[in-house]
Amino acid sequence: MSDSILRTKPVEDVLAQAGDPGTEGDSSASGLKRRLGAGDLMGFGIGIVIGTGIFTLTGIEAKNHAGPGVVISFAIAGLVSLLAALCYAEMAAAVPTAGSAYTYAYATIGEVFAWIIGWDLILEFALGAAVVARGWSGYMQQLFNLPTSLFGEKAPVNVGAVAIVLVLGLVAILGIRESARVTNALVAVKVAICVFVIVAGAFFVKGANLTPFIPPARPVADNVSGIKQPLGQALFGIAPTAFGFAGVLTAAAVVFFAYTGFEAVANLGEETKRPARDLPFGLLGTLGICTVLYIGVSLVITGMVPYSKLNEGAPIASAFEAVGAGWAATLISIAAVAGLTSVILVDIVAMGRIGFSMGRDRLLPPAVAKVHPKWGTPYRITMGTIVMVALLAALIPLKDLADLVSIGTLFAFVVVSIAVPILRRTRPDMKRPFRVPFNPLIPVLSALACLYLMTNLSLETWLRFLIWMVVGLAIYLVYGRRNARLAQRV
Ligand code: ALA
Repeated sequence: MSDSILRTKPVEDVLAQAGDPGTEGDSSASGLKRRLGAGDLMGFGIGIVIGTGIFTLTGIEAKNHAGPGVVISFAIAGLVSLLAALCYAEMAAAVPTAGSAYTYAYATIGEVFAWIIGWDLILEFALGAAVVARGWSGYMQQLFNLPTSLFGEKAPVNVGAVAIVLVLGLVAILGIRESARVTNALVAVKVAICVFVIVAGAFFVKGANLTPFIPPARPVADNVSGIKQPLGQALFGIAPTAFGFAGVLTAAAVVFFAYTGFEAVANLGEETKRPARDLPFGLLGTLGICTVLYIGVSLVITGMVPYSKLNEGAPIASAFEAVGAGWAATLISIAAVAGLTSVILVDIVAMGRIGFSMGRDRLLPPAVAKVHPKWGTPYRITMGTIVMVALLAALIPLKDLADLVSIGTLFAFVVVSIAVPILRRTRPDMKRPFRVPFNPLIPVLSALACLYLMTNLSLETWLRFLIWMVVGLAIYLVYGRRNARLAQRV
């Protein structure tokens, strides 16, 4: 079967490449250094999760689809993420590897799927970093009135976005501990300010703004057709409604974006001191904290201002302005900038680990997988990532492509959810420090919930996604299939 595109990588190989967890500073077999504890993993997780989503989508979705019911949308999206996180936790604890979803697919459903997932994760992490870097540049321009020729969407070359990518890229190259320190500091700022929003905002909540909690359903004002319509609408003729419980579900699909990224924690499996214990803790802890913060923030914001009057661009800052506490707006802007900065950093770190794993398996040229002897980081692939992200962020208005990040993430979630019951069947005796309860019910529910959210994304996003996948598949057939480490075995 060595020429089959469905060949799988034995779990023993994966574990041998990752090596035994040692003590602090020890290199794993791959040369990556085991320097992270559970707290660092949660720092990375929250660092990548809390970004633009909560600061913008709360207003847009409460106003257009869910009213105060957006709180339920956040709870539903959090629950879907939790199902996927349980699956990630089982896989990450049993097979702690830098490749995460890519490697889980390699060990279960076969090489071509693994490549496709790795290729797909480029969408999530590299494109994600570029989208957020442009958002960062726009925010800085507004906050400090910086020249629009260099910062923000009007700049011909978005120098601000390139600058932040280069600075954070340097941190990512210099070491995982250095990256953890910067991320933890940024996370402390944004979490503190989210808590502030909840506590201070609670004093301004009026019960009347929260009733009815789910406004009655009505046809959407901005009905879309053609390529912009959601796949579900195109396939099944389901017309989107605003408000009512259907509106709450529509909003859940959109605010799901705010949870994306937590699974980057699983990419740190070869840099974690006690992966079996700390990876599940990092994944589930991240999600637990973010879900509580999101529900708290969205409840307070919709309680402060009637949902129909929420601002779409900066709902949180404007809610405080509306109740006469405009000074809080500056604090919230600082949280937003801190949030965006850490998302870019963790995106670059995660992308480096995925590319590193693909190079190690020789689906990419093996030279890219070299780990720096002193810094202990996959510096070559990280540099490649930085160049790609900087170019994208410099030149291309990526706002429209943000949904590609969501579809890429959801696709990986589906695959990881499927991988759990497959591996339970093919390798029943494998040591599993963390087990998803009620297997296969939870993994199947997780995969179905993610597929459902995917049908809410537009036809246009699906087409772009399919084109990306076809390009990836062509590269695999030309390069990876022949050069893969597994292909060289006799
Ligand atoms: N989850 C991240 C955000 O909300 C990507 O910005």
